[in-house]
Amino acid sequence: MTQMMSRRAVCAGLLAAPLIRPGRAAASAPAPLTARAASVQLAPPGYGMTEVWSYDGSLPGPVLRAAQGGRLSRRLVNELEVPTTVHWHGIRIDNAMDGVAGLTQEAVPPGGSFDYDFALPDAGTYWYHAHTNSMEQVARGLSGPLIVEEATPPDVDADEILMLDDWLIDPDTAQFYADFTAPMMRSHAGRMGNLIGVNGRFDHRLKAGQNARLRLRLINAANARIFVLRLQGMEGWTVALDGMPLASPEPLVEEIILAPAQRVDLIVDVTAEEGTPAGLLYAADDDSWQALVELEVSGRASDARRAAPQPLPRNPRMEIGGLEEATPREMRMEGGAMRGMASGRFEGRQMDFQELIQRGQFWALAGQVGRGADPFARYRLGETARITLVNDTVFPHAMHLHGMHFRQLNEGAAGPMRDTLLVMPQQSAEIAFVADNPGKWLLHCHMLGHAASGMSNWIEVV
Ligand code: C2O
Ligand code: CU
Repeated sequence: MTQMMSRRAVCAGLLAAPLIRPGRAAASAPAPLTARAASVQLAPPGYGMTEVWSYDGSLPGPVLRAAQGGRLSRRLVNELEVPTTVHWHGIRIDNAMDGVAGLTQEAVPPGGSFDYDFALPDAGTYWYHAHTNSMEQVARGLSGPLIVEEATPPDVDADEILMLDDWLIDPDTAQFYADFTAPMMRSHAGRMGNLIGVNGRFDHRLKAGQNARLRLRLINAANARIFVLRLQGMEGWTVALDGMPLASPEPLVEEIILAPAQRVDLIVDVTAEEGTPAGLLYAADDDSWQALVELEVSGRASDARRAAPQPLPRNPRMEIGGLEEATPREMRMEGGAMRGMASGRFEGRQMDFQELIQRGQFWALAGQVGRGADPFARYRLGETARITLVNDTVFPHAMHLHGMHFRQLNEGAAGPMRDTLLVMPQQSAEIAFVADNPGKWLLHCHMLGHAASGMSNWIEVV
C-alpha cells in the first residue's frame, strides 16, 4: 500500500512536471483592445451623435503608452461586422506584428481576436490604426496615439498629445457620408472632411501660464488632409519628426506642414500674456487661419523663458552607411485625375484603362497598380537601400515605408529620419535606409484612398 501510494505520488509528480516549468511565469492574456461600433459626440452641440468604429468605444482610441526598451502587448478583439487588423505606424516592429492584412497576417474575422506583442526599440510619438480596408476603417475612427517614453524625458510642464483629424459628416444626420469609396475622391486629392478637430473634438482646448514649457505631440490621423499649421502666442522648436529625435532642436520659424500619418514633436514656450489669444492655427481651405486648438493663458508659470531645450536622447540605429555602394532605384507615381488616367500609360506600358477604372484603380507605383505578387525590390539584411520617389502626377502624395525609417538625401546630405515623406506634384525625392528589419514591408501612399486605388507596393528584406 505504502509502495503504491508512493508510486502513484511519483507518477503524479512526473505528470505534473511539464506543467510547472520552473522559471517561467504563466502566460496571462494581454489586455484587450476592442474594435467596436460606438456613438460619440463629434459634431458641435445641436447636431446628433455620430456612429463610429472605435477602439474601446472612444475616438480616437485610447492612448497607449509604454517605456522604450519594453514591449507592447494587446489582444485585438474584433467586435465589428467586418474583418480588421491593427498597424502600429512607425514602430520598427517584428514583421509578423505589422498588421497588414494579406501580407503579414490574415485579417481578423468578426468575433475573432489576434494577440499583438512586440518590442519597442525607439522612443517617440507613434500611432496605431486599422490596416484592412483602411480607407474606410480609419475614416470611421479606427486610430489612436501610441507613445513610447524616453527613460529621461525632457523637462517640460506638460506633455500634450494632439491628434489631428478631419471627418466627412452629413450635417443633416451627423453621420459619416457613407460613400467611402467615391471614385471622385480617390482619383483626386482624397477624402477630405468638413469637420476638423483634435483628439476627437472640434473644440479641444489647452490651458497654461505664461512662460510654461509644453511638449506638443502632433499626429495627423486624417485620411488625406495635409495640415498647414502655425503657432500663436507660443514659440519653440521642433525636436522630433515621425518619432525620431532631431540631432538638435530646430527653431520654429516657418509653418509646420504635416502630411497624413506624419508626426512632429514640438517643445514650445507660452509667450502670450494672460487674456491674449494663443493656440495652434491651421490654414483653412479658403486660406484663412483658423484656430485648431485654443490655448487659454492664465497667470504666469515662471518669470522668464528658460534656456533652449536639449535634443531628445537618440534612438538606436539612426546611422545610414554604405550610401555609395547602394543600388539606386526609381519608383514612379503615376495616374490620378487630370493626367495619366487619360493616357492609360504607366511607365511606358499601355494598360487597359477602362478595366482599371472599372476595378476602381486610378494610380500606379513603379508601373504597377496595387500590390503585386513580387516586391518592388528585395534587399539583403543589412543592405543600404536608395529609392528615388518620382511624383509624376498633379497631386501630392505622403509616402510611407513600413518597418524601417529612412532619410531623405539632398545633394549628398541626409535629412532627418522619418517614416512618411510628402512628395509634391512633379517633384522627386530620394530616400535611403538600412534594410535591417527582415520581412515584407509596404511602401505606399498614406492618402488612404490613393493606397486603395493602386498606389501601394512593397519591398522584402531577406
Ligand atoms: Cu499608417 Cu500602411 O500605414
Ligand atoms: Cu497619394
